[in-house]
Amino acid sequence: MSFELSTSQIIWLDAIDSTNNFAANLLKTTKPTNGTVILTKCQEKGRGQRGNVWESESGKNIICSIILYPGIKIKDQFKLTQLFSIAVIKFLEAYGIEGKIKWPNDVYVKDEKIAGILIENSLQGSLIKSSILGIGLNVNQVKFASSVATSMRNVTERKFDLEELINNFLNVSFQEFNRLLMNNDPNLKNTYLENLYGLNQPRKFMDKEGEFEGVIKGVDAFGLLIVEKNGKQVQYDLKEITFVR
Ligand code: BTN
Repeated sequence: MSFELSTSQIIWLDAIDSTNNFAANLLKTTKPTNGTVILTKCQEKGRGQRGNVWESESGKNIICSIILYPGIKIKDQFKLTQLFSIAVIKFLEAYGIEGKIKWPNDVYVKDEKIAGILIENSLQGSLIKSSILGIGLNVNQVKFASSVATSMRNVTERKFDLEELINNFLNVSFQEFNRLLMNNDPNLKNTYLENLYGLNQPRKFMDKEGEFEGVIKGVDAFGLLIVEKNGKQVQYDLKEITFVR
């Protein structure tokens, strides 16, 4: 990509089932410009990874999907995951919040989830034709159905101006997109690893053979998690391993 990518168009919706669904429909029916951003106050059927639901109280949080034509190969798709989660970490840092990336792209503060990312790519040949980067980032919500969820407000005991935050979040995100898409940032993997939750720490996991204690050693180029199990390094896909609390 030879030009600097920026937010090209912002679509604000009062309410929608899912901003990722809206983005997918837009891609089916029109040709949205690179960097189109879809935002809503109220998402009624937010989708998460592994078929989970993403719940968010109306008007309290960042609910956003970004459409990109990243021009990268399918084999490099994990780079999008890395850069978007790093963008969230950098954004939180600006507010004094230390986030960690729980593989592959959840963002945690200590042991509670503050943001979730759902990236949906459409492919053409060996390339990613278009990408929908969906994020739910908890800002001013105080109470959650899940006992392991938190928000910027809960962490800092401050209430935030949501509009200002959204602007800042988009600025940081597009800075990160450009870092990868224009300069092919060589530090991407290291930055991701430096911010990876549980790296080199003994933790409990569950795989198809049952519960075990293992140590996260890194990720490979395709985004598989590398865990040391019984002295051996094993690679796991998203559906093959879960963290046990
Ligand atoms: C996860 O943690 O499982 C991912 C959650 C992703 C939620 C966001 S909110 C905006 C976008 N629209 C959706 O339906 N999902 C993503």
